[in-house]
Amino acid sequence: MSRDTSIKIHRRGLLLGAVAALALPIPSRSEAAPRALVARRGKAQVTPEGYPETEIWGFDGQAPGPLLRARQGARLQRRLVNELPVPTSVHWHGIRIDNAMDGVTGLTQAPVAPGEIFDYAFDLPDAGTYWYHAHTNSYEQVARGLYGALIVEEADPPDIDREETLILGDWRLDRETAQIADDFGAWHDLSHAGRMGNIVTTNGKFDLKRAARRNERLRLRLINAANARILALSLVGLEGWIMALDGMPLEHPLAAQGALRLAPSQRMDLIVDVTAADGETAHLAQMNDDGKWWSQVAWDITGSASSQRRPRPMPLPPNPRQAVPGVKDARTVTLAMEGGAMGRLQAATYAGKRLAFRDLAERGQFWAFNGTVGRTDAPLAEAALGETLRIRIVNDTVFPHAMHLHGMHFRDVKDDGDSLGPLRDTLLVQQGETREIAFVADNPGGWLFHCHMLAHAASGMTTWVKVRDG
Ligand code: C2O
Ligand code: CU
Repeated sequence: MSRDTSIKIHRRGLLLGAVAALALPIPSRSEAAPRALVARRGKAQVTPEGYPETEIWGFDGQAPGPLLRARQGARLQRRLVNELPVPTSVHWHGIRIDNAMDGVTGLTQAPVAPGEIFDYAFDLPDAGTYWYHAHTNSYEQVARGLYGALIVEEADPPDIDREETLILGDWRLDRETAQIADDFGAWHDLSHAGRMGNIVTTNGKFDLKRAARRNERLRLRLINAANARILALSLVGLEGWIMALDGMPLEHPLAAQGALRLAPSQRMDLIVDVTAADGETAHLAQMNDDGKWWSQVAWDITGSASSQRRPRPMPLPPNPRQAVPGVKDARTVTLAMEGGAMGRLQAATYAGKRLAFRDLAERGQFWAFNGTVGRTDAPLAEAALGETLRIRIVNDTVFPHAMHLHGMHFRDVKDDGDSLGPLRDTLLVQQGETREIAFVADNPGGWLFHCHMLAHAASGMTTWVKVRDG
């Protein structure tokens, strides 16, 4: 898929390695190894108590993996130890990261073979809610449980009573055995809406139960780790504001009302007050396939934290480099999305060959960007360091797609650049819709740009953007 790209990057890595070796002292052997993050098999109670446990793959054997927390500006170091039977890697989703640490096999690193290690070390420029997940055969590895939350704390955190990180996963389990259905890459999933599960969990639990007090102020950090499911969530007995999207604080927090939609890989930080009374139960509800709202997390309310609700919270402190200047005059690149079931794609280029749709389908490749299936050596766009770039995304398919850009956050361009949406790393583009994003290409390297419906990414919806070094 990416022969030349990986060779180029490999060479540059070697060159940098040689320069660094000249300039830096050789680390002494006594230096402590970074803390391990072990990718391995494990067991989890995904279904309600009383049903069998599910065999999963997880970081440190858990799904979700350990919650990682660090202060803004700190450096995070983890040694990935691969005890899985297959190669893997870790992507730190939403972190404006050093390219070599981005975890994309074939683009930024070689896959970490079974029994091998990879040392990740990178700075955390932004506070917010992020997550990490496997980025090798993601459509299988994330579905098996290889993901976890990564929280970066503000230097000056908001005034709350407590926070809860709620990471939602979507599992496709065999109804008899409660084991993960191993039909990864099933053609129907690839060509339709992606791999949908039949059980949505929060922090790995089918029915997460919590306790809270009336008028308590909670920060809820919501993360959608599902393979393909667009979550519709709503609050019952909780009232508050959307404070941040995809880690980045909103200048003007929004009322958290109605259905809160979270596409795969998106995050939402809420600050909510418990308005349910003593003895009642507050809920985070999720709309199921049956169109009904079901309790996803339940908080039993006992007592009260104070006699009154607190005043409206201040916005979260801004992160650095939030501005996207010069959008009106920026260069625009088009990304036409085609393919999938019931689509109009007749033919596209795959591995250098022009193939008819049915020949692509036989190879499990159902989608194309600008007439090309999957990532090739040529990036979608090459940007100068610091350039503002616009990408017009035309969804000429009958499915929604959650487009994720690695390495840099973007803003949604409205009214031809007269107004800009919030800074995000993933945008949901509905069927038939055209959207435009703009970002400052301020992070050098090769950055993946793909659909986060992970079966789509594996079936053609992956490209990349190159940001030059200087
Ligand atoms: Cu969260 Cu390339 O992905
Ligand atoms: Cu998609």
